[in-house]
Amino acid sequence: MRKATRLLRNKFIPFLLSLALILPIYVTQNTNPLIVKAASAYTGDASVSNKVDFSTDVIYQIVTDRFSDGNTANNPTGALYDSTKTQLKKYFGGDWQGVINKINDGYLSNMGITAIWVSQPVENIYSVFTDGSTSYHGYWARDFKNTNPYFGNFTDFQNMVNAAHAKNIKVVIDFAPNHTSPADQTNTSYAENGKLYDNGTLIGSYSNDPTGMFHHNGGTDFSSYEDGIYKNLYDLADLEHQNNTVDSYMKSAIKKWLDLGIDGIRMDAVKHMAMGWQKNFMDTVYGYKPVFTFGEWFLGTNEVDPNNHYFANNSGMSLLDFRFSQKVRQVFRDGTDTMYGLDSMVSGTQTAYEDVNDQVTFIDNHDMDRFTKAGASTRTTDLALVYTLTSRGVPAIYYGTEQYMTGNGDPNNRAMMTGFNNATNAYQIVQKLAPLRKTNPAIAYGNTTQKWINNDVYVYERKFGNSVAVIAVNKNLTTSANISGLVTSLPAGTYSDVLGGLTSGNGITVGTGGAVNTFTLAAGGAAVWQYTATSNAPTIGHVGQPMARPGETVVIDGRGFGSTTGTVTFGTTAATVVSWSDSEVKAVVPNVAAGKVNVSLKTSGGTASNTYANYDVLTGPQVLVRFVVNNASTALGENVYLTGNVAELGNWDANKAIGSMFNQVVYKYPSWYYDVSVPAGTTIQFKYLKKNGSTVTWEGGSNHTYTVPSNATGIVTVNWQP
Ligand code: NOJ
Ligand code: NOJ
Ligand code: CA
Ligand code: CA
Repeated sequence: MRKATRLLRNKFIPFLLSLALILPIYVTQNTNPLIVKAASAYTGDASVSNKVDFSTDVIYQIVTDRFSDGNTANNPTGALYDSTKTQLKKYFGGDWQGVINKINDGYLSNMGITAIWVSQPVENIYSVFTDGSTSYHGYWARDFKNTNPYFGNFTDFQNMVNAAHAKNIKVVIDFAPNHTSPADQTNTSYAENGKLYDNGTLIGSYSNDPTGMFHHNGGTDFSSYEDGIYKNLYDLADLEHQNNTVDSYMKSAIKKWLDLGIDGIRMDAVKHMAMGWQKNFMDTVYGYKPVFTFGEWFLGTNEVDPNNHYFANNSGMSLLDFRFSQKVRQVFRDGTDTMYGLDSMVSGTQTAYEDVNDQVTFIDNHDMDRFTKAGASTRTTDLALVYTLTSRGVPAIYYGTEQYMTGNGDPNNRAMMTGFNNATNAYQIVQKLAPLRKTNPAIAYGNTTQKWINNDVYVYERKFGNSVAVIAVNKNLTTSANISGLVTSLPAGTYSDVLGGLTSGNGITVGTGGAVNTFTLAAGGAAVWQYTATSNAPTIGHVGQPMARPGETVVIDGRGFGSTTGTVTFGTTAATVVSWSDSEVKAVVPNVAAGKVNVSLKTSGGTASNTYANYDVLTGPQVLVRFVVNNASTALGENVYLTGNVAELGNWDANKAIGSMFNQVVYKYPSWYYDVSVPAGTTIQFKYLKKNGSTVTWEGGSNHTYTVPSNATGIVTVNWQP
């Protein structure tokens, strides 16, 4: 099969709380003193101005070429384009003006969408493969500092950002710095030879690469983490981020898009780039204009990868939650697992991810079969949407899922948007549940507890402070379920289904102690019951950006902070407070010892909040250094790691050492290497160690020392000291 064909078939595949938004809560037994207080308005985390917390948002993923053609004058001509929109590998003409039109006509905001994720906006290659493959998807970049002209020019992009912001919608761009475009080392006429341009000036090509901007290690067979990073992903010209030109180019490119006002980045193929470079890149973003960033680390069905968890917890960015997605697909769509499997995914990811609420959940995307199966009941899609929109994590809805579009595999899963019907059940489900993420912090920030379960029925509770949401889902489309013995944290009273029966849900009556009267959950039924507290003890739900240098300002979201300024501490050190409201505080990270730090606050009255653990504080601005150690021979089962005297190297703690290091591609055993983000301009001390399970063998001799460059990348090579 042609390489390009393989690629395309890859499996890798301020607003005030208005009364109108308060969803119906009927409390008959007003026994809870909290209920009588009026709802307090908050502006912080509900606002588009908060670019570092997406917990309250619902993202809508748009394949720009396939959504709406708002300007036919910018469409490609000739073999690049198919006006019939049937040859799915060609451009169809969708563009930013089309997105603007759907923002302005209310299709997105009426659905409750508060963020859009658009295709990589940068200029892509113009060549067409003989099988018709083109760059319509945006993943074949040639100039990261220019726009894809078929999507629009910089003015169009800016207009889209402005239109979105005017409707309280954030804009996330896809960004794919792993590679340029398809290339063949020995055939320069294959596509565009991976050529890279800097604002119109050619700076590199795959076959003529004297300065090493690309990897020339062949294609990855996906056999190891290292193999996937330093070899080509399919036929894509793989960039070497340790190369100074590439490193500085990508950082200046992202600044150009940040300057246009974007609110987030979806980072492509993060499993295929060194984590050290990506952490360094995130430090650049956070040091410039911080935005929420989530990476794509594909996981297959039932795949659990500790490297994926380590990345989410230590790279400074979140991930698309593939564990969530694959499990929801198994349970709801394919019937290959039960609600018990869903529940263990929930508890497993809660443990594995330090900030599970920051991971981005989804039921389908452009690399998966569309969720709705041709001929299947659309109720299955509806139930998966109800589940996802009320679960922990930031939901992302793939364009057209609300229209029940079908299509298996790439490119059938990327057809032109079939219509903009705002009366589908799925559209109305999003419309009912998206606003709840803004109003009830239990949905955005709460913990998840399973309350009632069998193979088909899952009842779970989300709770944050005194706010509660209880959701019941019966995935069995033919048999109803009798739910008895359910006990929740809901205050006594009567609750209607937030969904208003869109998925055959019922109301419930809750007695003292949260006991719910026995009820029947309809076949294929789902209901959402919620209680939004108006008074809370101080409770932190989120701290963003997820990683910062001392001196950077972070945003702390939650409830119950009070209206007068209190105190914030990182570890035991007080932080300078920049602003303070009942739901949002901004504070400057103080000069604390770098590493994982506990963040907490106290109200002006001295009431302490919960502790927000594992906040990542950096030593200072970061640069990328490649560490190489030669002559490090190991016994079977032993691997080489790196540690040293800064938090970025694990502070001499063998358990936090960096690695295991690599030894197969760029350097080969008994040499080992690893790309690490370390504090710029600092003289560091370090050592290598060998680990075999819990057995640690340190290098002998004195510590190695190295002065990290103050900018640009570095490399330090030493011999293992026996
Ligand atoms: C993952 C993207 O989601 C996929 O569509 C793309 O082909 C590869 N990365 C390469 O950019
Ligand atoms: C930690 C010490 O601080 C460092 O100097 C030493 O080299 C390693 N432990 C190994 O003993
Ligand atoms: Ca167009
Ligand atoms: Ca790579």
